[in-house]
Amino acid sequence: MATKQKTVFLCSECGYSSTKWSGKCPSCGEWNTMEETSFVEEEASPKNKNRAIGGKDNKALPFDDLELPAYLRAETGTGELDRVLGGGIVQGSVVLMAGEPGIGKSTMLLQICNTLGKNAKVLYASGEESTWQLKYRAKRLAVSSPNLFVLTETNIDKILSECTRIAPDYLIVDSIQTVFDDRLSSAPGSVSQVRETALQLINCAKSRGISVILVGHVNKEGGIAGPKVLEHMVDAVLYFEGDRQNAFRIIRAVKNRYGSTGEIGVFEMTDKGLLEVPNPSEMLLSGRPKGVSGNCAVCVMEGSRPIIAEIQALSVPTVFPSPRRTSNGIDYNRACLILAVLERRLGLRFSANDVYLNVIGGLRLDEPGSDLALALALISCLKDKSIGGKVLALGELGLSGECRPVSFIDQRVKEAARLGFSTILLPKGNFDKGNLPRIEGVSIVPVRSIFDALQIFNSKED
Ligand code: TYD
Ligand code: MG
Repeated sequence: MATKQKTVFLCSECGYSSTKWSGKCPSCGEWNTMEETSFVEEEASPKNKNRAIGGKDNKALPFDDLELPAYLRAETGTGELDRVLGGGIVQGSVVLMAGEPGIGKSTMLLQICNTLGKNAKVLYASGEESTWQLKYRAKRLAVSSPNLFVLTETNIDKILSECTRIAPDYLIVDSIQTVFDDRLSSAPGSVSQVRETALQLINCAKSRGISVILVGHVNKEGGIAGPKVLEHMVDAVLYFEGDRQNAFRIIRAVKNRYGSTGEIGVFEMTDKGLLEVPNPSEMLLSGRPKGVSGNCAVCVMEGSRPIIAEIQALSVPTVFPSPRRTSNGIDYNRACLILAVLERRLGLRFSANDVYLNVIGGLRLDEPGSDLALALALISCLKDKSIGGKVLALGELGLSGECRPVSFIDQRVKEAARLGFSTILLPKGNFDKGNLPRIEGVSIVPVRSIFDALQIFNSKED
């Protein structure tokens, strides 16, 4: 069979390919991302011919005649993961599970093998651990199933041929950065290798109806190592959040073709592996100090679930020419915006102070509805006055300091009441809409602007 060596340049950001090198990627505009890669091209290779997912007799079908398979989703046995996936793993789908090293990806996947292996065959292909290491870990996690097969292999051809021999229902590849195709000259983990091997695994999933889970490492910037196209190619992308020093882990769907992307799953890493935390609010509020300034509780919606989080702020006079701002769990630009509003509207001198912000438990707050709580935590710190442990604040702040309404009031207020909050600051706009939940022992205070919210420091009780 005729073969020839080909050289192309691939962008490590977007996967754009070109025969010529350029300093700036013509597609995404990033600088110094074009990497040279060469591979052996087999002309008319049967392998390449069969890369189309539908086979060579593929034809368009009438949509109404299509039939769904007998089962479409399988539960993983871990409710928190099923919630993130939108109710379980969809047959023939490809899920990318990404996260920092040591966060718990392999642990999670080995744990779900236990349930998946009850009714289906699972092939776990690992390029990172030996078979005995996997067995040792599985023993610790009490994972055992006659339907679970492990393979320590990184060559894509061998993984796919074992997949043909064993014919599993689930294929787990840990990790995509270790897998390589020997027709490409670049090293495993390079853009071309990740893209090519992922494509072959996706084709395998779609043509044989196998559900594939790929493990992906995250680079220093927090993105999935490898081309951005990997995220476009797969059906769902799940991110593991949280830090290794902390026992809590959050799985968040950033893309899901078969479900919502808002849901999060909360876990705790223990000596028996990852345990589900069905009640995250209680976990996030545990150990909250009493009567201390610089914190405020907020209730955010994570998908369909209200979760109570605590925002902490610390402000100290700066020794630098320009003050430091450090933000953990809150968008940096959002934090700067709130600081500017407080400085301009309330005359608070944050510009002479360093500011450190933190959300307890490694949670990330993306919702503007947490603005008011953030502002109150900052004011409380600067005044060195506690807001009181039973106060919770909701509302988005505008640039003039006005407080704008938030959605899902009913669920948020009920969750706050359930966890013992007795004073809830709520935007006035939500009162105007009516239908506020009435709960005995809970007073709901209308807030038109940040000026109204300051009253809370006068009615202090703890
Ligand atoms: P791991 O799943 O290997 O991480 P990843 O695959 O994302 O790189 O997780 C390893 C970490 O989890 C390691 O620091 C030890 C910890 N761990 C536990 O605390 N308890 C356990 O039962 C297991 C299996 C791991
Ligand atoms: Mg691992």
